[in-house]
Amino acid sequence: MFQTSAKTFSVLAATASAYRRVFLVGLRRYCKKTSTKLRVSEALSGAQLGADVKGWVRSVRPQKNNIFLHVNDGSSLQSLQIVADAKLNDPLLTFGSAVEVTGILKKSPHQKQPVELEAEQIRVVGECNPVNFPFKIKKRHSLEYIRQLPHLRCRTNAFSSLLRIRSEATAAIHSYFKNNGFVQIHTPIITSNDCEGAGELFQVEPSGPATVDDESFFSVPAFLTVSGQLHLEVMAGAFSRVYTFGPTFRAENSQSRRHLAEFFMVEAEISFTESLEDLTKVIEDVFRSATERVLARCAEDVDLFHRHVTPGHRVSPDGRSISYTEAIDILHRSSEKFTFPTDWGCDLMTEHEKYLVKHCGNVPVFVTNYPYDLKPFYARDNQDHPKHTAAAVDLLVPGVGELCGGSLREERLNLLMDRLKRVGLEDTYNWYLDLRRFGSVPHGGFGLGFERYLQCVLGVDNIKDVIPFPRFSHSCLL
Ligand code: 4AD
Ligand code: MG
Repeated sequence: MFQTSAKTFSVLAATASAYRRVFLVGLRRYCKKTSTKLRVSEALSGAQLGADVKGWVRSVRPQKNNIFLHVNDGSSLQSLQIVADAKLNDPLLTFGSAVEVTGILKKSPHQKQPVELEAEQIRVVGECNPVNFPFKIKKRHSLEYIRQLPHLRCRTNAFSSLLRIRSEATAAIHSYFKNNGFVQIHTPIITSNDCEGAGELFQVEPSGPATVDDESFFSVPAFLTVSGQLHLEVMAGAFSRVYTFGPTFRAENSQSRRHLAEFFMVEAEISFTESLEDLTKVIEDVFRSATERVLARCAEDVDLFHRHVTPGHRVSPDGRSISYTEAIDILHRSSEKFTFPTDWGCDLMTEHEKYLVKHCGNVPVFVTNYPYDLKPFYARDNQDHPKHTAAAVDLLVPGVGELCGGSLREERLNLLMDRLKRVGLEDTYNWYLDLRRFGSVPHGGFGLGFERYLQCVLGVDNIKDVIPFPRFSHSCLL
């Protein structure tokens, strides 16, 4: 009985192994036929059997029988491990080369990765001479070094993480506004309004010969936008809640670590709003919801920054709010020697902002109700004589300084008209006065510098390291 069973068993085993061979050959053929083009992130989730992965080689480790590669395609910080027979090795398989690998995804025997790709074919699509390639394998290059290579720095772990975070934060900000009933408005890039000195202007003119009759292209001087606020105010008069998120330009001759000539600004305008608290609540909500989503969906990328690029940095918890008058009191009481004056009525400079943030415990600080004369014509008069303030707010954050600026807008026609008359802008802004003549409502809005937001979340010191292609004075443009 036992013998018979053993015989039967060995026949069964032989049959099973024959079937297994047939099955595996069939599976390989099937996988080859159905091999799916996969992003590395999808392959790492192990969802598919047959895979065709394309990307750039991050490491090559030839061994006696096998060769191990890591391939990254930008879809995640993680690379996919490729295991190939040593005969598939090719001298052109170097760090930085572009490859196309076809094979079968398998559960990896190593704990470091859930799956690996057993390669059946490796094709070098684009070679990369590792001697000339400015990045070296396994070396962590500094942000300063990679900044000098704007056309190549996205191939590094740090900058590709940054760009994935930036993309997720962009989506998160749009989601916030969409989920909260805001209508997105594409405010113009070319405009004639200067938003009352929001920043230095870039003028726009045709580069070719002057048009007919030597006239300029537009009938008024035209500039690149410094803020979409006034156009948003137009739209807030019909949609109640509007926002814009786009490039903004300031010709600041500044080499600072928080100024760019071209940056992205998130601006919102909300009708039927009567208090600065309503505005600061929206700013806090945008900040919180974008940051929570980035931390949840880009955990590995953020972790890379917080561990290796800006060690020890943490996003500050909830902040606090002080009035401008309290801010001045704090500065007066301090023993610090400031370069710029701290008298009531003086603008807060970077040194003051930094001190205030530190004084408040290195948390975000809203400063509210600035002197009326410091703020542009559209800021709402608090009519609180003799001090005389305007309902304006700035958000100051650790390590960055000013992240947001906003205000309630002057919705009362007579007050706005008087102020515009005083500065001789009554005719220029007649269209703006129309917004107060026809169905004016209390409203307010703010602008948040998107690059400064990323600096704040990631702890990045230089603004040039959080934008794909930085534009600043005296820089060469790519
Ligand atoms: O404080 P700002 O100048 O405010 C305005 O332009 C308002 N009209 C916005 C509004 O109420 N709709 O700019 C808003 C924010 C600043 O707080 C800062 O974060 C950022 O834009 N910002 C810059 N970011 C990078 N480079 C520059 N040169 C910047 N200038 C301002
Ligand atoms: Mg400002």
